[in-house]
Amino acid sequence: MLKQKETWLDDEERKNQLEESKNPVKPTFFGYERVPRDQKTDRVIEHFNSVAQHYDFMNSLLSFGIHHLWKRAAVRMMDLAPADRILDVCGGTADLAILAAREIGSAGGVIVYDINRAMIQAGQHKVAHKDITSQIGYVQGNAETISFPDRHFDAAMVGFGIRNVTNMKKGFEEMYRVLKPGGKMMCLEFSKPTFPPFRWLYDIYSFYVMPFLGELIAGSRKAYTHLPESIRMFPLPDELADLLTRIGFSQVSYRRLTNGIAVIHLAIK
Ligand SMILES: C[S@@+](CC[C@H](N)C(=O)[O-])C[C@H]1O[C@@H](n2cnc3c(N)ncnc32)[C@H](O)[C@@H]1O
Repeated sequence: MLKQKETWLDDEERKNQLEESKNPVKPTFFGYERVPRDQKTDRVIEHFNSVAQHYDFMNSLLSFGIHHLWKRAAVRMMDLAPADRILDVCGGTADLAILAAREIGSAGGVIVYDINRAMIQAGQHKVAHKDITSQIGYVQGNAETISFPDRHFDAAMVGFGIRNVTNMKKGFEEMYRVLKPGGKMMCLEFSKPTFPPFRWLYDIYSFYVMPFLGELIAGSRKAYTHLPESIRMFPLPDELADLLTRIGFSQVSYRRLTNGIAVIHLAIK
């Protein structure tokens, strides 16, 4: 039932795409589509413009609400301390920022750092009705060139966002740069379910049900076809751990959630 392009890339293909996304001249990928490298960021902005209004609702619908549990587990794993200063890279509608703000108390602060204004605004509306409003700030910018000085944050996190960054390695290097020595980096990202029959069901759900619901509710089949494609190109947990170690992070560990649909990586500068 599934076509070849609706399953997972093999090791070599994934490695090639990671290498190519680092090469400044070669085209890169937007989902499975090859795009000129200098156009990818604009495509990503366009993509999130089209989904921003429905983003939170679609997330909850498509994951049956489980993304809230994943995000809670991820922030808990960071073991944040009162008064910590935290950067939420690709922070979007601020779900992780809200959870982190509750952990660090009124003396701490979280910056939602995102390239897309519509996503930030959706987050601002949500935060406006909460008791942690004053602890959350917003900066619009590219994760490849984070506009903060070196060694500024106690922790940096990225949830379901690094996949979209054209040069993913540069994004992690920037997170490393702005962390204080000893600071924690957390990455929550989709991955490959480990149990083959479950993976088969997940693939069918991803390539048939998700685009259908995307079209029906958010008015965009394309946006919700890009999502499963980009997930299948993302490095597997060991590959990502290896990349983080090569960047300079230590104590790199990860935890699979829901049979590996999502994975939390934790690392120390
Ligand atoms: C799937 S959303 C995740 C939002 C939020 N972190 C969450 O967990 O719900 C990905 C976010 O990454 C942002 N993004 C994509 N590329 C980016 C880049 N190069 N720099 C900063 N933000 C980026 C998008 O605008 C979008 O808001």
